[in-house]
Amino acid sequence: MKKIVIEGGNSLKGTVTISGSKNAALPAVAACILTGGPHIIHSLPTLRDIMTIKTIMSGMGAEFHENEDHSLSVNTDNIIDHEASYDLVRTMRASILLLGPLLARLGKARISLPGGCAIGARPVNLHLKALSAMGVDMRLENGYINAEVKHMKGANIFFDIPTVTGTENIMMAAVTADGSTILNNAAKEPEIIDLADMLRKMGADIRGDGTDTIFIEGVKELKPAEHSIIPDRIEAGTFMIASAITQGDIRIQNCRPDHLYAVIEKLRAVGAEIEYGEDVFSIKGPKIIHSVDITTMPFPGFPTDLQAQFMTLMCIAKGSSIIEETIFENRFIHVSELERMGADITINGNQALVRGRDCLLAAPVMATDLRASASLILAGLVAVEGRTEVSRIYHLDRGYEALEEKFRALGANIRREED
Ligand code: EPU
Repeated sequence: MKKIVIEGGNSLKGTVTISGSKNAALPAVAACILTGGPHIIHSLPTLRDIMTIKTIMSGMGAEFHENEDHSLSVNTDNIIDHEASYDLVRTMRASILLLGPLLARLGKARISLPGGCAIGARPVNLHLKALSAMGVDMRLENGYINAEVKHMKGANIFFDIPTVTGTENIMMAAVTADGSTILNNAAKEPEIIDLADMLRKMGADIRGDGTDTIFIEGVKELKPAEHSIIPDRIEAGTFMIASAITQGDIRIQNCRPDHLYAVIEKLRAVGAEIEYGEDVFSIKGPKIIHSVDITTMPFPGFPTDLQAQFMTLMCIAKGSSIIEETIFENRFIHVSELERMGADITINGNQALVRGRDCLLAAPVMATDLRASASLILAGLVAVEGRTEVSRIYHLDRGYEALEEKFRALGANIRREED
């Protein structure tokens, strides 16, 4: 097993290019099932989660081909199987995104229920409830959802909670359904808009994406599409925080500042100097980091996927801050690892009180989930007194493309070693 070793203290300088968004790429690849190909996807990040969805879809008969310009051709002419097994689904919950497209294309799907994960129970009841309303017959057998539908019909759906993959799943199920579908209290994340853009290129009739009411008129036929994935806002936010925490001066290119307004606002309050254009940021870290409270919220609020990284920043801020997590019930697992590096954090329910210290201390720590891994790497970048070793970094490889290479190019002393 590999670990990441960091000797902290370097201030990050230079330019970093953001990769395509993991959470936009996963539904885009799943959407290729809706109709035969070849579909062409640009800016697909090289990540373990993308490998996982390709492996599952290859087992169903999809064919993938990497083109010379680094785009991916996806051919789904021969989808012969409709099962996603527990072995693969348990490594990536987003496999549930195959349910909607398989039902739309084949009228049947057998997908393992994902089960809980480190950050929370994360049920998929809202996906299933919406599909039932669209006429899908659903049975749970041996931990698998066996779903079947003769004619998917449009429906008026109300999501109790705005769910990102739930909204995406039902959008994909609805594009070729009979009649209209309305998704009320839909998620508004940029990844939803990106999927809607791809589906429209395939011939779908979708309006309202990016608002909480999405209207979909079922169409008879779809066609293959060519689509470019949006930049990863969470990766960009992680580099912004890296610049803030190391008194850095970073230019972040190929990003979407309009996807990160909540983060810009908080980092400016921390003391960072931020300027941005249409697809570029420059961010200069402050000499004194001011403490700032955050509450995670669905988009356009502060993203839960940057909560752990922001907490690391607050660990060395002047004063105390309250970090409130409202999306997932167990997303403070990084706290005990940060404490091993000298952080002073008290958890009370879904709030963490972070009392800023002068410094963090290098230590061996263990990554527990994807974003927690990033928070520990940020901690390692500023830790004093030796080297920080982050183990179980397979979590990191699920969602950050070449993170340590990118940090190294900005001047960090970071490398991957055999454990
Ligand atoms: N929820 C339900 N029932 C459902 C679906 C969701 O109760 O059927 C609850 C969840 O338990 C959670 C809330 O609704 O409390 C919101 O969850 P959501 O469904 O929006 O999360 P998700 O779609 O499973 C996506 C991202 C996550 C990101 C969340 C929130 C993908 C592949 N995953 O998950 O990304 O944290 O939205 O923005 O898009 C990550 O990249 O590290 C990651 C975890």
